[in-house]
Parts: sequence; structure tokens; C-alpha cells
Amino acid sequence: MKAVLMYQTGDVDVMRYEDVPKPEAQAGEVLVKVFAAGINPVDWKTRAGKGINGLLGDPYPMIPGWDVSGVVEAVGEGVSHFKGGDEVFGMVRFPKVGSAYAQYVASPESDLAIKPHNVDHVQAAAVPLAGLTAWQGLIELADIQAGERVMVTAAAGGVGHLAVQIAKWKGANVIGTVSPGGKELAESLGADELIDYTSQPFESATAPVDVVFDTVGGETLQRAPKAVKPGGRLVTIAGRPEERNDIKVYSFLVRPDASHLKEIATLMAAGHLKCVVAKAFPLSEVQAAHEMGEAGHLRGKIVLEVGQ
Ligand SMILES: NC(=O)c1ccc[n+]([C@@H]2O[C@H](COP(=O)([O-])OP(=O)(O)OC[C@H]3O[C@@H](n4cnc5c(N)ncnc54)[C@H](OP(=O)(O)O)[C@@H]3O)[C@@H](O)[C@H]2O)c1
Repeated sequence: MKAVLMYQTGDVDVMRYEDVPKPEAQAGEVLVKVFAAGINPVDWKTRAGKGINGLLGDPYPMIPGWDVSGVVEAVGEGVSHFKGGDEVFGMVRFPKVGSAYAQYVASPESDLAIKPHNVDHVQAAAVPLAGLTAWQGLIELADIQAGERVMVTAAAGGVGHLAVQIAKWKGANVIGTVSPGGKELAESLGADELIDYTSQPFESATAPVDVVFDTVGGETLQRAPKAVKPGGRLVTIAGRPEERNDIKVYSFLVRPDASHLKEIATLMAAGHLKCVVAKAFPLSEVQAAHEMGEAGHLRGKIVLEVGQ
């Protein structure tokens, strides 16, 4: 099969489009014919040696990528939830080597869910890692409630634009931080209030909120506690903030969870959650896809199309 192979960390040229043996489904695994593979910032950070490389062991040569959407080709012993021909999507083996940038991937059954019928493979492949991150941050950790004021930083980004919609579906009042270029997208997703972070300090631009979900990190994360009211929660996916006694602070790494993925699929099927795909590239153009992601200012997600 065709796949993207990496023999070392480095710039985009370390990713090679090559022929490799097709994997087989072991016990508890599903062999997926990949139609599309999603790209996340952790992909290009890890390629460059600045991501979750420490969690991968000694993986080379490795096939990068974690997010997939495709069709079940075969199932291993003991697999009970899927059969040949099922359309599935998921985040494979994160934070171990996922090998999603390929025509076939063998995935643990527990990392997959049935793809929502109303979205194509490109859109579905864009969702798992970012959607699970938004779900685990907002629903599992912050436990957001209807009527609460929830601020999402980078409301037009890959995780942020899904977080806005999940928070709206929960009945929260959503405040998003965006640059002028992200305003239209965040508005279209239902954000109630938008703060242009380039022209005003987001932490004092609105009344203190119940929850901040930070997807930016760095200086934004250091300032974020100021936006949270006493007794509120700060959830971040991009670093560790300074502690403050009167708010709860959570930082976490997303994990595969089929029950969460099913909830996400249900929201997508019902039209409550849409994923914006900024651009889809052929698998053989993976270098250009990473370059686009690394350039920043993304509105939604980047996806690799692997074929039918
Ligand atoms: N812990 C975890 O499990 C986990 C999971 C997923 C992602 N992450 C991390 O979370 C971060 C976001 O991921 P992503 O997929 O959403 O990235 P992304 O799609 O690349 O999002 C970048 C967005 O951030 C906006 N932005 C940049 N600086 C900003 C600022 N100061 N304030 C507000 N918005 C700003 C950009 O728009 P403009 O430049 O136009 O403002 C762009 O829309 C990455 O660092 C990623 O590695 C962590």
C-alpha cells in the first residue's frame, strides 16, 4: 500500500510517500481502508521533534497520523462492534504511533465509532482528535451547564470551532476570542459574543466567565485565569497555567474514547456539530499540508484525502 513514512524528525522533507506492506488486523483490531486522514498540530510538532515524541518510544521508521475515516476491510479475533463494510472514524492509538497517513490502518476496536451518515470521509477524518479534545475538556472536566458563560480562546481554530458548537449545544452562553479573520466563522457557529484578541485584552473585555476553555497556551494561558470568576473553572489543552486558589484548573492530554466519539457522532448526525475543513490535500502532498498547518491562522482543519 501507499503510505507516508518518516525515518527521523525534521522539516517536511522527512515525510516520504512510499510503498509499504499492508497491515493486518490482530486480535481486538479493525483493518480500516482509509479514505481520509486528518491533520492536527501535534502531527507537525511531533514530525519536528517538538510534540509528543517522548511518548512514542523508538518508533522509526514510522507512519505518522492519528485521525482517520474509512471503511472496515476486515476484523481481528474478538472484535464485536464492527463488521466488514462499516463506515468508521476515529483517533488511532493516540498518544502511541497511530499510522493513519496510509491506505490501510489497523486500529484497536476501542478507538473507532461508526461515522455519521450525513458527513463525508474528509469531514469525518477532521473530527476525532479535535472533537474528543473539546468534548473531554468541556463535558468531562469542566462539566459545563446550560446558562453558564463559557469562553473559548481561538474560537475559529481546529479545536476551538468544535468547542464553540459543543458549548452552544449544552446551552451555554459562548464567548469566543478571535482575530478579525476568524470572526465570520465563529459567528456562523453560534458564538454569542466575540472578542478581537488583537485589539483588546480578552481577559477584561467581558464580565468574568464561569469557564475558560483555552486552546492557545503561552501568554494567553497565563492571562486566562483573570477572565474566570471566583469558583469557576479553567481548562487548558496547551500548557500549565499559574495556580489560583479560587478557581479549578485542569490541563490534560486527549485520549481515545469510543463512548465520547459516539456522542460526537450523534451530535454531527443531528446537525448540532459541523467540522470546517480549511483544505484537503492528496496523501502524496503531505508536505504542503503540514506547511499550511504550520503557517498558522487556520480556520478549521486540514485533511489528507487517501482515495476511494
Ligand atoms: N492537550 C491536548 O490533548 C490537545 C489536543 C488538541 C490540540 N492541542 C493543542 O492545542 C492547540 C490548538 O490546536 P488546534 O488544532 O485548535 O490548532 P489550530 O487549528 O492550528 O488553531 C489555531 C487557531 O488559533 C488562533 N490563534 C492564534 N493565536 C491566538 C491568540 N493569541 N488568541 C486567540 N486565538 C489565536 C488562530 O487564528 P488567528 O491566528 O487568525 O488568530 C487559529 O484559528 C495546539 O497547540 C495543539 O497542539 C492539545
